[in-house]
Amino acid sequence: MLKAKKILVGISGGISVYKMCTVVRLLKKSGAQVRVLMTQSATQFVTPLTFSTLSQEEAVVSLWPSDAHSSTDLGTKHIELGLWADAMVIAPATANIIAKLATGIADDVITSAVLALRCPLLISPAMDVDMYLNVVTQKNLALLSGRGYFILPPEEGELASGLVGTGRLPEPEKIVAFVEDVLNKTPRDLSGKKILVTAGPTHEPIDPVRFIGNRSSGKMGFALANAAALRGGEVTLIAGPVALETPKNVNRINVETAEEMKRAVLAHSKKSDAVIMAAAVADYTPAHPASQKIKKAKLSQSGFTLELKETADILKELSTQKNGALLIGFALETNDAIKNATEKLRSKNLDFIILNSAHDEGAAFGSDTNVVTIIGKDGTTERLPKMPKFDVATEILNRAGRRLAASSKKERK
Ligand code: CTP
Repeated sequence: MLKAKKILVGISGGISVYKMCTVVRLLKKSGAQVRVLMTQSATQFVTPLTFSTLSQEEAVVSLWPSDAHSSTDLGTKHIELGLWADAMVIAPATANIIAKLATGIADDVITSAVLALRCPLLISPAMDVDMYLNVVTQKNLALLSGRGYFILPPEEGELASGLVGTGRLPEPEKIVAFVEDVLNKTPRDLSGKKILVTAGPTHEPIDPVRFIGNRSSGKMGFALANAAALRGGEVTLIAGPVALETPKNVNRINVETAEEMKRAVLAHSKKSDAVIMAAAVADYTPAHPASQKIKKAKLSQSGFTLELKETADILKELSTQKNGALLIGFALETNDAIKNATEKLRSKNLDFIILNSAHDEGAAFGSDTNVVTIIGKDGTTERLPKMPKFDVATEILNRAGRRLAASSKKERK
């Protein structure tokens, strides 16, 4: 798996830097090309010479050229290496470097490379237990995870401080397995493909301050957009109102209502190779939204009846357009799940429908995991176990990627 892969290893300063010698050795032994970036603090623990020797390439420590007069050493190594890599892993990642990554500070070789990175980024935090559990560190890690970076949680055990708790860098084999796993999930099979993803709920206005919405968190759609971008896809994400970070290399368009979502989807679908409708689009919207806030006094006199009208079914409209794009829908069912979802697949003329059963543990609104059944146009029905939403996205894109590769756009018409 790692043969000929280009792995950029970022090492920041912590006692566990010594374990990184083995990580670099294992990566090299598996056939990977390895380049090492170190912060100045990391060099306090192990010298750059050790990593240069193990990686057989000069470890980069400074943003500045070694010879200011040389035209061949322009001091842009961190950018070149960011573009060169198939994956970058930062281990150990200190609380300091995690905070810098979260805010976009780029004052060392590692954080500078990250800002220019186009490949998956893996972060393996290691620090004292109190630093790790500190609310700021936890918030920063949640932010980085939301941005689409992969976090390998630290392990419990004895720490350099003498305390026992969570904060240890996992063993080298585990770090290498993590790199392999992420590379496995991010083949470049969607290179050059235009992927349109919708996510989140829609908000249908009753008046300027009230709306009808639903509990969709948008996490499944954002995971799909992130995973598709990491596979090389040109991703447009049409998002309803959600408070989620935009994954890297994703073009995000924010919308509020079902009508706005329809317009945005139709404007982009013609150029798309695949459209994945993960959004929970409202089926009904207030027929006459009030332009002024509706007053309570007025309501209580006569009671309050809200007239609703049906929204357009975006997927159905897409399926009549016949522009050849692969169409993937979602279905949330409470009863006769397979039967209802299959019926939706047929009526909306979809290639795949992803069935969520509302009763499954681990598939709740807002959850980071999902339990789905993938039903194909050809009648295949595959129930997947509970897994993180990124992994569900990977399973969906594996199938979409195979279909896109198998049939050219023209043939699907
Ligand atoms: N969808 C859509 N346009 C709508 C409503 C839904 O494109 N106005 C899409 C959703 O994004 C999803 C799929 O259709 O991919 C199924 O949505 P769902 O609400 O489960 O199905 P409905 O057809 O609305 O049927 P029902 O609500 O009766 O289950």
